[in-house]
Amino acid sequence: MIVPQFLTKIDKKQLNNGVVNWSSPSNIALVKYWGKKEHQIPNNQSISFTLESCRTTTKLSFDRLDKPSNKFSFEVFLDGEKKLDFEPKIEQFFKRIENYLPFLNDFHFKIETSNSFPHSSGIASSASGMSALALCLMSIEKQLNPEQSNAFFYQKASFLARLGSGSACRSIEGDIVVWGEHPDIEGSSDLFGVKYPYKVHENFKNYQDTILLVDKGEKQVSSTLGHNLMNNHPYAKERFKQAEANISKIKTILETGNLDDFIALVESEALTLHSMMMTSMPYFILMKPNTLEIINKIWEFRKKTGLHICFTLDAGANVHILYPESESKAIYEFIKIELVAYCQNGHYICDRVGFGAKQL
Ligand code: PMV
Repeated sequence: MIVPQFLTKIDKKQLNNGVVNWSSPSNIALVKYWGKKEHQIPNNQSISFTLESCRTTTKLSFDRLDKPSNKFSFEVFLDGEKKLDFEPKIEQFFKRIENYLPFLNDFHFKIETSNSFPHSSGIASSASGMSALALCLMSIEKQLNPEQSNAFFYQKASFLARLGSGSACRSIEGDIVVWGEHPDIEGSSDLFGVKYPYKVHENFKNYQDTILLVDKGEKQVSSTLGHNLMNNHPYAKERFKQAEANISKIKTILETGNLDDFIALVESEALTLHSMMMTSMPYFILMKPNTLEIINKIWEFRKKTGLHICFTLDAGANVHILYPESESKAIYEFIKIELVAYCQNGHYICDRVGFGAKQL
C-alpha cells in the first residue's frame, strides 16, 4: 500500500551531514486501539490524552555515505549504551517508511535516545520513541525541502510514526488526539492522528494522570501478538462497533464536561481491552492482584467522597489514575496514602495532559 500524498520530491544532493533533536511524549488512550489490519491500519478508532512528563528524547545524527547503500546503515544508543536489541524494530520501521523518505539509504544514522521514565518501568516507550524518531526524520526531510508547510510536516510525522507503532501517531500533537476515520470527527483518518478539532470543556484542562507502576517487568504479550489476537476473535465485531460508538459519546462528554459519564466510559474501555485479552485464544490476564486492589480502592474512595477519580489501563498491569486538576489535592493525598503501597518498590509517575512533541 502506497499513500501518494506522502511521497515527496526532495533534492537528495544538498545535505551532507547534520544533527536533529526532538522530545516526544507518550499518550494514554481513553478509547482504546486494539486490533489492526495490514499496513498498521486500525480496526477501530481511538482517542487519547497526550502526556507531558513521560517523554523520549532523541538525537539523530546523519552522515552521507560515500555511495548509497542497499542496506540501512544505523546504530542505536539508549542512555549512551549501544542497543543491538533495538535494531530489528528500527530496521522494520525503516523498511516500512523507505518509500516515503528516499534519503534513508544515503546516510549513516546515529540514533541516541533516552526516556524520562525508567526503561524497565512497564511504561511502553514505543509511542514516544517512534514519534520522536519520525519527527527527527521529518526534520531531515524539511532541510531537503524547506518549503513544506507545518501542517504537512506534522501530518506526515504522525503518518510515519504510525508505521513504527500504531499508537505513536497520537504522540505528535496535543492535547487530545483522534486516530481512525470516524463520521463524527472531521478530518479524522486511519493513516494519521489528528488533533481533536472541537471545543473541550474546562473540566478537562490540565487533567492529571498518576501512573502507578504495579509491574515493571517485560510485557507478557507483545502489542503485535495482542493486535493479531483480534483477528478471528469471537467478540471482535461488536468491540469495533462499541469503540466507534464510544468516540461519538466521548465527543459529547468532552463538550459538556460531564465527569460521571467520562469515568464510566473510560473505565469500561479499560476493562473491555483486558476482557478482549482474556477471551482471545490463547488467552491472557495482564492485570496483577495489585491492579485489582487499586481498582477496588479507587471505587471505594470515589463512592465515599464523590470525587471524580477513575482508572485506565494499557496492555499491562500498571494503572493510570485520571482526575481533574480542581480535585487534585485530595486525590493525590489519597494516592500517596492508600495506593502507592501497591506499586512495585513504591514507584509511580506524576503526569498530566500535555501539548505534544518539541524540537530541541
Ligand atoms: O501502539 P501499539 O501497537 O503498541 O498498541 C497499543 C495499544 C494500547 O496501548 C493497548 C491501546 C492504545 O490505544 O494505546
